[in-house]
Order: sequence, then C-alpha cells, then structure tokens
Amino acid sequence: MKIKTICCIGAGYVGGPTMAVIAKQCPHIKVTVVDINEARIAAWNSKNLDHLPIFEPGLADIVKQTRDKNLFFSTDIDKAIDEAQMIFMSVNTPTKTYGKGKGMAADLKYIELCARQIARVSKQNKIVVEKSTLPVRTASAIKSILDNVGNDVNFQILSNPEFLAEGTAVQDLLNPDRVLIGGDQSTEKGHEAVQALVDIYANWVPKAQILTTNVWSSELSKLTANAFLAQRVSSINAMSEICEKTGADVKEVSKAIGMDSRIGPKFLNASVGFGGSCFQKDILNLVYIAKTYGLNEVADYWEQVIIMNDHQKNRFSDNIVSTLYNTVSGKKIAFLGWAFKKDTNDTRESAAIKVADNLLSEQAEIEVYDPKVSKERIYADLDYLKTRPSEENKTLLTVKTDPYQACKNAHAIAVLTEWDEFKDYNWESIYNSMQKPAFIFDGRGILDKQQLEKIGFAYYKIGSSN
Ligand code: NAD
Ligand code: UDX
Repeated sequence: MKIKTICCIGAGYVGGPTMAVIAKQCPHIKVTVVDINEARIAAWNSKNLDHLPIFEPGLADIVKQTRDKNLFFSTDIDKAIDEAQMIFMSVNTPTKTYGKGKGMAADLKYIELCARQIARVSKQNKIVVEKSTLPVRTASAIKSILDNVGNDVNFQILSNPEFLAEGTAVQDLLNPDRVLIGGDQSTEKGHEAVQALVDIYANWVPKAQILTTNVWSSELSKLTANAFLAQRVSSINAMSEICEKTGADVKEVSKAIGMDSRIGPKFLNASVGFGGSCFQKDILNLVYIAKTYGLNEVADYWEQVIIMNDHQKNRFSDNIVSTLYNTVSGKKIAFLGWAFKKDTNDTRESAAIKVADNLLSEQAEIEVYDPKVSKERIYADLDYLKTRPSEENKTLLTVKTDPYQACKNAHAIAVLTEWDEFKDYNWESIYNSMQKPAFIFDGRGILDKQQLEKIGFAYYKIGSSN
C-alpha cells in the first residue's frame, strides 16, 4: 500500500517537527497535523516564522518550504482523520497526577480519547501509529477500543517510538541512528502496514537503519533507551560528587572512561541534573510497570536513577547556600539559563526550577536570564509547584532580557543551562558589576575556570574541587 495522506494528532514537540520532516522528505504525501489546542495550531500557521510554538534549529526553514504545500496544521481533527490512510498519535502521555499509579504511571487518557475519536470517525481501513511513548502492551488496549467502538473497518496498529532529542530534533529526524517500527508480523495485513511505514522512512533513511520488531519490543525499547540514557547521566553525576570530595575532576574521568569503546563518550557530562519531559516520566513509568508485575528489585534499580537526580539538584542549591556563608536571605542570585538544555525553549522538569524553588525557600532574590524562555513560562513553572503564593514568586524572582542586567549587583551567578553564548560574555565587566566576593556556580561545567579565577571570581564547577 502506498501512503498518500497522513494525519498526526498532537502538534507538540514531537508531532510538529516529525511531521514537518516527513512532509519535506516525502513531497508526494499530504501531511495534516491536528490539535485541540487552537492557539498552538494558530502559532504553527503564523506568518512570522519566529512565532512557531516550538524553537528548534532548522525547523522554521522546513516549515517555510512545506507549509500549505503538503504540510497543513488544523483544528479540524475529524476531517483529517477521515482523509488519512495513516494516523500518527503524538499526544502527551504525562505522569498520572491522580488515582492509582499517581506520580508514577503514564496517564493514557489523551491516547484513549484519540483512539475513540479515530474509531468513531473512520469509515475506511486505517493504519494507526503510536508515536507517543507508551507503556508496553498499550497497543492491545488501543486495538480493543478501535475494534469495539469502530464502524467495522480494519485497523492495523504500529508502534513507532520517536528518539529525537530536543534542540537537535531536525538533525535527529533527518539522520536517525535508527527508526523502530513494531507491528503484527504474523498476519498479511500487519505485514503490509509495517511495510507501508517502512516505505515512508525509506525515502531518506537507509534501509539497514529501519528496524522492524514485534509491537511489544518496540514499545519497551523506547522506555529502555530513555532509562539507559538517564542512568548514564545519574551515574556520572554520582561520580561528580565523589570527584568534589577527592580532588578528581569529573571531566577528566568522563574523558578517560569514554575512550573505552565499550562505554563510549556520549552522555557523560556531569550536570546539575537531567530535565526534560521524557527521562523522569519514562523511568517512573518503567518502575510502575515493573511493580505491577511484582518485580520489586527491578523497580528499585531504576528508581535509584531518579533519586540520584533529585539529590544532584538539591545538593547544587545546598552548595550555593553553604558557600554564601550559610545564608542567601535577601541576597541576589543570577540564573543563567532556565531551559532544561541548550537550544530549546522547553523547560519541562528543568533542574533550574527545583534549584530556584529551593533558593526562594531560603529567601534568596533571583534574577533569571534565558535566551529563549519567556517570563510567563518561568512563573508558570514555579507556580505549578505550589510551594508559595504566586505573588511571592513574582516578588522574589524577576526575569531579565539582558544577561548583564541579571548579573548586576548579584552575590552569585548560577549556570543552569549550557547555552553557548554564556561562554562569550564579557566576564570582566560582569565581575565589576557584582557584589564581592563574586561567586559563580557552574552547574554545567562550561565556563573557563582559569579565565574567571584570573578576573577574581570564586568559581565552583560541578564535579571538581580544584
Ligand atoms: P506536547 O505536550 O508538546 O504535545 C502534545 C499535543 O497533543 C498537545 O499540543 C496537546 O494539545 C495535543 N493533544 C492532547 N490530546 C489531544 C487530543 N485528544 N486530540 C488532539 N490533540 C491532543 O508533547 P510532546 O513533547 O510532543 O510529546 C508527545 C509524546 O511523544 C509523549 O508521549 C512523549 O513522551 C513522546 N516523546 C517526546 C519527546 C520530546 O522530546 N518531547 C521525544 C520522544 C518522545
Ligand atoms: C531525551 C532522549 O535523548 C531522546 O532520545 C528521547 O526521544 C527524548 O528524551 P531530550 O530530553 O530532548 O531527549 O534531551 P537529552 O539530550 O536526552 O537531555 C536530557 C537531559 O539530560 C537534559 O537536561 C540534559 O542537559 C541532560 N544531560 C544530557 C546531562 O546532564 N548530561 C549529559 O551528558 C547528557
């Protein structure tokens, strides 16, 4: 079967970039991305490409080339489902905040709503693709809904998890390490559905990198990949604390172990803690799945990755307080960065939020500068924690659009995100504008220690005591 029409439900960080790249690489396919969020769709359609809802290097260019040619953004979900031969479900699957599995399990209500809508609207056979990250065996629940609610049409369900990382989404989509497609290979229809999706990716991904598996392996591989990646970060962060006590330098340790080809050099940067919408959510989900099968040792093993990450965030703020003579009350601390990593405006689970919350509880005054994150987003992140009234967050924390203003008169600077521009600031002038002693707490280890110490800063880098 040759696919000519695709619908993607969910115009978020995954749906938007993924579909833009499919549209670019497959001009013969009409791709419609739909969402219930009208403002988000309006932003995807905005004339000014600076106003797209998601910032990703290279994305605006692709949208410019494809939008209104074979890429469309719409709120008419029924129409897009009806027209499409293949439907991607790319809705959010956050951690449950209520009921059984609260704080751990994935909340599948958005996926179920999607499945019910597809079932209700479809009058012809469809291939339904799980793009969202889902607990293993979700496809069987989706199939049950589609088959029982639908109009007697045939649905094939595929799992096609997305491995893109934010900030490099376009490059990851154009040159993926692999594309994973799980499907029912035991029936002819299942086989055809898998092949239809393979054929789409084969327009730009070498065949050897398109991996087909059974549905359950595909679903579980996504959770496994994120658990392994996060585990590497927690492992190197655990070593960063030992480094600080012993005089070893975590950067040197990372380099030394990364040159072992069995370990490899990536994902060994010690940090103030991992953030992002995926790692914590997906590990908690994995822990929950293990617990539901009674695999308590497995659950404990993976939960430790989260425990270590929480510890890393807390010990970073604790270190600021203790270094500033055990009180930060009334002291100004400048935050460079709020996003969970560089080159994205996404702040979900960013370490900066927890570090700020801890310091605000110590009555610090914080001034934040981030090149891409809005003031509204920063306040919303803090208010969401409900640690203190919203008015108090607004009084204690201000957001600046100029980094030099944020640092002026500060007692300390905390680097929370590894934005490249931070390296090129005029640090001499920042030093002159600060309270003395002028402290820098580099939660990403990106600044030049020698240069800063020469200027006069007291410089603390995660994972180093020298
Ligand atoms: P997101 O919150 O940015 O986008 C999800 C969108 O789905 C929202 O705009 C929401 O309005 C829409 N939506 C929800 N229910 C809907 C419905 N019934 N009908 C129409 N639209 C609906 O989420 P995201 O970051 O794009 O993540 C989506 C999925 O992809 C999640 O399962 C996530 O775990 C997974 N994932 C995310 C990333 C990432 O880097 N963000 C990477 C890989 C996988
Ligand atoms: C992650 C996975 O990498 C991606 O494959 C999946 O599809 C979604 O989740 P993402 O969360 O966008 O992607 O970014 P990633 O680059 O993995 O970084 C996650 C967090 O770990 C960030 O806060 C980052 O700063 C931190 N990190 C990463 C480190 O602290 N050290 C590292 O060495 C690498």
